Amino acid sequence: MQSIEVRLESHSYPVYTGSGLLQQSGLWARHLAPGKILIVSNDVVAPLYLEPVRQALSGRVVEHLILPDGEAFKTLDTFSTVVDQLVRMKARRDSNLLALGGGVVGDIGGFSAACYMRGIRLLQAPTTLLAQVDSSVGGKTGVNHAAGKNLVGAFHQPAAVIADMDTLETLPRREFRAGLAEVVKYGAIRDADFFEWLERNTAAILQRDSNLLAALVQTCVENKAAVVAQDEREAGLRATLNFGHTFGHALEAVTAYQAYLHGEAVAVGMVLAAKLSHLRGLCDDSCANRLEALLETFGLPLRIPRTIVPEALYEFIELDKKAVSSGLRFVLLSAIGQSLIHSESMKDDILSVIRQSQQNGEIERHGT
Ligand code: NAD
Ligand code: GLY
Repeated sequence: MQSIEVRLESHSYPVYTGSGLLQQSGLWARHLAPGKILIVSNDVVAPLYLEPVRQALSGRVVEHLILPDGEAFKTLDTFSTVVDQLVRMKARRDSNLLALGGGVVGDIGGFSAACYMRGIRLLQAPTTLLAQVDSSVGGKTGVNHAAGKNLVGAFHQPAAVIADMDTLETLPRREFRAGLAEVVKYGAIRDADFFEWLERNTAAILQRDSNLLAALVQTCVENKAAVVAQDEREAGLRATLNFGHTFGHALEAVTAYQAYLHGEAVAVGMVLAAKLSHLRGLCDDSCANRLEALLETFGLPLRIPRTIVPEALYEFIELDKKAVSSGLRFVLLSAIGQSLIHSESMKDDILSVIRQSQQNGEIERHGT
């Protein structure tokens, strides 16, 4: 087992990565508050992993709540269901919420823990690659609203993150690959050595070699912990974690959240952001070429489909940028491993890279 510390001004917490962690009673005991425990999971993850966690917590007062699976349930209604359950079980300030699942469960559970009695203890047990390398670390929690994704939320840091690598064995192939997009992101924005390591190890990563995956998750968590430690509330540096997300969110929105998993849209978005960086003279074309090659090997989509009207996509890009309180922010690359935040209007260049992407032809890999 490895432990990486997320060092914040207010407090620090560990992110544990390793095998067989869900079953380790001592690990849970070290980080739980003395009161009751509500495990929040969903109807895909619970049949696989609820029982071992319950067994590890035997001797404690534990209840569980199983949510329906899917982003469609990351809503205020579901949040309300979690709060109702906390009320019903008479949870108090010394109670705990344990989120067992992917980013959706983590975000809803985290937000419920943030709000109930102005904050109870949260433990994150992420079971997807995306949640282990990104969403469970850093304290962003929230739910969607009809008017926008993650529109309602709070910062609420967990007391610990327990990332059991064994859970990745049951993750569907498409979900695993989508998680790899966020993995590549860390290499692209701040860790050139890691990017090269990924390039050298694609085959073993795709085979989910356990030693390599452990190293991969640890490196991502180290990167995320370093960024969050410097900029917990996204005043600046943390925004670089949104590389590829401005194009990606727009692509998700323009396809009504039906066509792409989040990581898939981010993969397309990163390629476009790298092309935009080249067009603006910030980096040479090897940046985008290497990024494209790596994402393609990981079976991720790279292009904007021809069916999408560039101006329609651009409108969503504008909306996404306006959603950021500090104004227009686009994350671009000056090299593989180096990112910067760009805040000029770039409408013509953005439309140009979208059209260029469409001319290069769509690479469809959904559902593989
Ligand atoms: P998800 O939680 O929907 O999980 C993906 C699918 O895999 C689901 O069907 C889930 O039930 C299933 N699953 C989970 N673990 C499994 C396992 N071990 N075996 C088999 N199936 C399993 O999606 P995700 O990609 O984990 O997370 C996406 C969410 O995370 C989005 O809502 C996004 O907004 C959010 N997110 C949050 C942050 C943050 O900082 N809070 C960062 C990135 C993404
Ligand atoms: N996933 C982006 C962040 O945590 O800031």
